[in-house]
Amino acid sequence: MTNVTDPHLPEGCEAHRGTVLHFLEDPGNEMEPAAGSMALFEDGLLIVHRDKVVVAGDASEWLPRLPAGTPVTHWKGQLILPGFIDTHVHMPQLGVMASYGAQLLDWLETYTFPHEARFSDLDWARAEASRFTDLLLRYGTTSGLVFCTSHPESVHALFEAGEQRGMALTAGKAMMDRHAPENLTDTAQGSYDDSLELLGTWHKRGRQRYAITPRFAATSTPEQLALAGKLAAEHPDVMVQTHWAENTGEIDWIRELFPERFSYLDVYDHYGLLGDHTILAHGIHIDDVDRKRLSETGTCIAFCPTSNTFLGSGLFDFREAREAGVTVGLASDVGGGTSLSMLATMAEAYKVCRLRGQPLTPWQAFYLATLGNARALHQDQQTGSFQPGRHADFVVLDPSGTPQLAMKRQYGRTPFETLFNLMILGDDRAITATIVAGEIRYQAVGATISPSSLKPTHFTLGA
Ligand code: GUN
Ligand code: ZN
Repeated sequence: MTNVTDPHLPEGCEAHRGTVLHFLEDPGNEMEPAAGSMALFEDGLLIVHRDKVVVAGDASEWLPRLPAGTPVTHWKGQLILPGFIDTHVHMPQLGVMASYGAQLLDWLETYTFPHEARFSDLDWARAEASRFTDLLLRYGTTSGLVFCTSHPESVHALFEAGEQRGMALTAGKAMMDRHAPENLTDTAQGSYDDSLELLGTWHKRGRQRYAITPRFAATSTPEQLALAGKLAAEHPDVMVQTHWAENTGEIDWIRELFPERFSYLDVYDHYGLLGDHTILAHGIHIDDVDRKRLSETGTCIAFCPTSNTFLGSGLFDFREAREAGVTVGLASDVGGGTSLSMLATMAEAYKVCRLRGQPLTPWQAFYLATLGNARALHQDQQTGSFQPGRHADFVVLDPSGTPQLAMKRQYGRTPFETLFNLMILGDDRAITATIVAGEIRYQAVGATISPSSLKPTHFTLGA
């Protein structure tokens, strides 16, 4: 092989070789991805310069162009995908996962609020934020929209952890000034002031971004919702996150609390909280009027399937949302959700769709977990694909990473089958490595990894 160095490749590149796959557009939800929506390089090369992607392409085309001495990591038999993105997850709820026998409102009161009260302690918050971000990386997730508690300490702790790991996190302090224990509640003005201060400190500091975070309409007074809307209007580039229409008991309660509003969505609309920077978690019990308003305003729903089945909340109608032109993101909603893994989240999303007689192809599921979620967060110019100039956030997946996956591979290895097997059967054993902004932040070690991925092969071109 002769080296014809490409003048467009800067000095000091690194390359990763494997099967490279990413989305350029929404592939749709048919058996074949929409033309031009996906790029797949069976023997591919992802070339990275420092923290950014230079190019993704065929190894046969790009290997000869690398400057002599360029390090190439060969992830043999592995899949290289953009890092997963989670559009709704609670940092302070790792310890709440797998809490027995309750639906939303009881679950909040019995398990969640008492646990969240611990996060006024900065040391505890820091320990949990480290655990949380390390676990995200173990599951291949490199970015997310994250709820903290009402304590500013929890927000500082999370952003510090994100910054240390180079991750792009968007997060905020939960605003909640009623219907919760005293050790969690703030005041309308206090929550505005705290949010503003946190926003000033963290929004766009490196890769971190702030999110205005009223918990849900039941735990905010009208005054607090109005101030959240004011803050959103003052900072139109800041994301807004809350919960909406998850549980029928919750919806009845909102009707009592806001009798003057014609629907739950109208509460948020009235206070200026809808728009293309807003992500509403759940949106299960909704109608066509809601969908029309979401579509008109560009408001996104975060579909949280493992939470919705675990808490018995209901089955999100993915097809109706898509057909109405509503942006949908995919999310774990830990600790209502039962796994931080976006693979497990895709599996549950598939099952929820099946229960509704709807398809969810692996193309659509992996699109949602990568570029789709990046778009929902307005981060697609930074992450979610391997377009040149994006941050080099990627996950190396082992299609034989568990005994079951390895066995299943005997029966079919098309890209469709490979991705579908991974999303239905995969777990953290299928995550070989997670790279954030060009740095390896997680790498699997140990006997549970199949021989194909025990070690990446390092070799140097021209050596
Ligand atoms: N609604 C209000 N708060 C929460 C929460 O923490 N989790 C879920 N799933 N729903 C909520
Ligand atoms: Zn949630």
